[in-house]
Amino acid sequence: MRLSNSLPLLSLLFAPSLADLLPRTYDTHDFFALHLDDSVTPEYVAAALGARHEGQIGSLPGHHKFSLPQDQSSRVESLLEDLRVDRKLKKRSSSYGKRGDGLDGVLWSQKLALKDRLHKRVPIELVSKDEPAGPQPEAVDRQKRIASDLAIKDPLFQKQWHLFNTVQLGHDLNVTGVWLEGITGEGVVTAIVDDGLDMYSNDLKDNYFPEGSWDFNENAEEPKPLLFEDKHGTRCAGEVAAVRNGVCGVGMAYDSKVAGIRILSKPIDDADEAAAINYGFQKNDIYSCSWGPRDDGQTMEAPGILVRRAMVNGIVQGRDGKGSIFVFAAGNGGMSGDNCNFDGYTNSIYSITVGALDRRGGHPSYSEACSAQLVVAYSSGGGDHIHTTDVGTDTCTNAHGGTSAAGPLAAGAIALGLSVRPDLTWRDVQYILLETAVPVHADDDEVQMTPIGKEFSHQYGYGKVDTYSFVQKAKNWELVKPQAWYTSPWLRVEKDVPQGNQGLASYFDVNSDMLKDANLERVEHVTITMNVNHTRRGDISVELRGPQGIVSHLSVPRKNDEAQVGYVDWTFMSVAHWGESGEGVWSVVVKDTVVNDNTGVFIDWRMTLWGVSIDPEIQQPHPLPDEHDDDHDIEDAVYATVSIKPHPVTTAAPTATDHAERPTKPTNTEAKPTATPEVPTPVDEELSEEPTDSDTAEPTASTSPGFLPSFLPTFGATPHTQVWIYASIALILVFCLALGIYFYVQRRNRLRNNPHDDYEFEIIDDEDDAAAPLAGRRGRKRRGGELYNAFAEESDEELLSGNDDDEEGPFRDHLKEKDGEHH
Ligand SMILES: *[C@@H]1O[C@H](CO)[C@@H](O)[C@H](O)[C@H]1NC(C)=O
Ligand SMILES: *[C@@H]1O[C@H](CO)[C@@H](O)[C@H](O)[C@H]1NC(C)=O
Repeated sequence: MRLSNSLPLLSLLFAPSLADLLPRTYDTHDFFALHLDDSVTPEYVAAALGARHEGQIGSLPGHHKFSLPQDQSSRVESLLEDLRVDRKLKKRSSSYGKRGDGLDGVLWSQKLALKDRLHKRVPIELVSKDEPAGPQPEAVDRQKRIASDLAIKDPLFQKQWHLFNTVQLGHDLNVTGVWLEGITGEGVVTAIVDDGLDMYSNDLKDNYFPEGSWDFNENAEEPKPLLFEDKHGTRCAGEVAAVRNGVCGVGMAYDSKVAGIRILSKPIDDADEAAAINYGFQKNDIYSCSWGPRDDGQTMEAPGILVRRAMVNGIVQGRDGKGSIFVFAAGNGGMSGDNCNFDGYTNSIYSITVGALDRRGGHPSYSEACSAQLVVAYSSGGGDHIHTTDVGTDTCTNAHGGTSAAGPLAAGAIALGLSVRPDLTWRDVQYILLETAVPVHADDDEVQMTPIGKEFSHQYGYGKVDTYSFVQKAKNWELVKPQAWYTSPWLRVEKDVPQGNQGLASYFDVNSDMLKDANLERVEHVTITMNVNHTRRGDISVELRGPQGIVSHLSVPRKNDEAQVGYVDWTFMSVAHWGESGEGVWSVVVKDTVVNDNTGVFIDWRMTLWGVSIDPEIQQPHPLPDEHDDDHDIEDAVYATVSIKPHPVTTAAPTATDHAERPTKPTNTEAKPTATPEVPTPVDEELSEEPTDSDTAEPTASTSPGFLPSFLPTFGATPHTQVWIYASIALILVFCLALGIYFYVQRRNRLRNNPHDDYEFEIIDDEDDAAAPLAGRRGRKRRGGELYNAFAEESDEELLSGNDDDEEGPFRDHLKEKDGEHH
């Protein structure tokens, strides 16, 4: 540190020679990442820029890092800007001439910067007032027998409830049956991308894999924990692969290997982060990442393009083309109302997002929900933590937790699966996880039965990891065909988002020809990239409604999020539509949930359906993400069909019971979901104020004949749900009417007492206006509506019980913790 601070002065004296000897740092130098094609060598480019070639960026083909002294970098910056303009012009006209300096081979460039340290998903102390229950004697006997059969002498094993729970039976990862079959993770390597890994711990050293390890913070071979707080990575490593040797406990895959990739102990730039997540990617199979942007309920951050490219590079090139397995902790911002779709790592289709479950099977209040969450695994909460290895020769900890601890346990289960089926691709692993996850039923959670017969919830994804079923399913798994995708044009909306009880819906109809042309047979992930201008980001929420009735809450309002921007080219992701055909009308509903002076405009959106290909022979491999992917000025943008629709009071999310009559099919690779009878409407390529058929479809009269006039929207929900939605709305109207009468009476009383009060208020108007959105009337400035809306915020939610499903407020969690509502 001292050395680098004094460098500018020294370099004045001994400029060239010394600068070549000392490592370049951000104190004295600027760094640039460039993507070059085959027509230029990095040495040529270095000479042309007057910069030094620092080497290739990790394993990214054609990507190189260059450095030069800070005082010279403005010259290079303007040159790179020149190149950017040239590339743009060349794109438009092929006759645009070549440059004289031979730098046409520069495809992309970026000035690098150190970014804030990423945040560990560290344990949160949860107070539990419940008396810890005692172990059940038969379970303790069984645990002893298992330990003796497997020669486990590790003293911590009996406390490792996540492996075998003797108190709350069944609330563990169900792994011991796999070990008894002799499957313990041999041949698989999990890289812990974190703050280091104590390779000298007696509990880890036999499973430490140096070839896959690197310290990016110190640029050293051994990712040793150096700072006092560098304990996180070692604890995570112990969960995966603590050795069965009489020290502390054992890992989920105790004969597998762990590598350490140290990145969290100092700020690093995107080039190093990109290199880190591809480090040793032919040997490291799984990358376990228990970190990300801040979980404060106000951060919305995605990895930079280099890191995104590295992730794609990982799934395309890693593990000999089968793809690196990225496991990410969902995040600990549950109590701050955070949601894992605001985190670009967890909402990536390339990562497996893992939330937490406590030892009683309850929701730990810290664990974030989102539509991108695939599964949950056990962690702290419910009166206990995860017991694992710690930094030190023979040191253990009883205090590991947070979603940080859940991710590595899922990684351990995956390691066991890969040890019997090393040929599984990154997508097979996601399939098998969702196939074998055990649904979690919590009283307060909204569960949707998907068309492939799986239960999905935003809080628990497809459920908790069951290692035994995961490994059994893996054994005979038929590999899925390569990935294909369909991307819609940019859909222009450019309309004000109504406030309060309404949502602005925009539709896109996907027909079978589009899917056929895209070689797409069945949907896995869905991503929506969108732009919303808003003066307070935390007020907005977005739903994606699929053609088969599944609702993804892509984003939720966040109380803490004061950012005066909306969503800028943000990509949300959902795994809730997994297995659908993709055909039909998809709608994105943007809401501005708070009535205040902060308003916004829904500008545009674009959808990509990712899934399995029809014909594997013609499928192109996944391209690296391009910085122009989000150009909206492109010619094929179309005006989207939009409508303003009432905000169903809680959520139109169908419940499991609502969909009980849906044909459910066992899911396997061959299963194809049945198409719904719904007839999609062709989307007009011009602005339309009229709701599409999906809104005005004839209600199924069987349950409630004459209940719905045909102009009322059906929310794409089943009649049951519709009845429920309208009943809720009716209840609200009654409430408002009652409120109106109350105020009217109050006012009359007041007028009697004070005849000079000239305050005007009419009940009739109020009632009328409250009903207006239902009838699809819009654009009318509501008078009494202010009263209605002012109360909408609180009363909507409190009026009806059990309607706070999509609110992740601390209050609910708090109650839940207190009541000990666990299963
Ligand atoms: C757990 O593992 C056992 C075998 O050890 C298996 O019979 C059972 O089906 C698995 N899953 C559950 C949910 O119990
Ligand atoms: C959105 O905001 C940006 C930046 O403030 C502005 O340039 C743009 O015109 C806005 N778009 C709409 C449709 O309001």
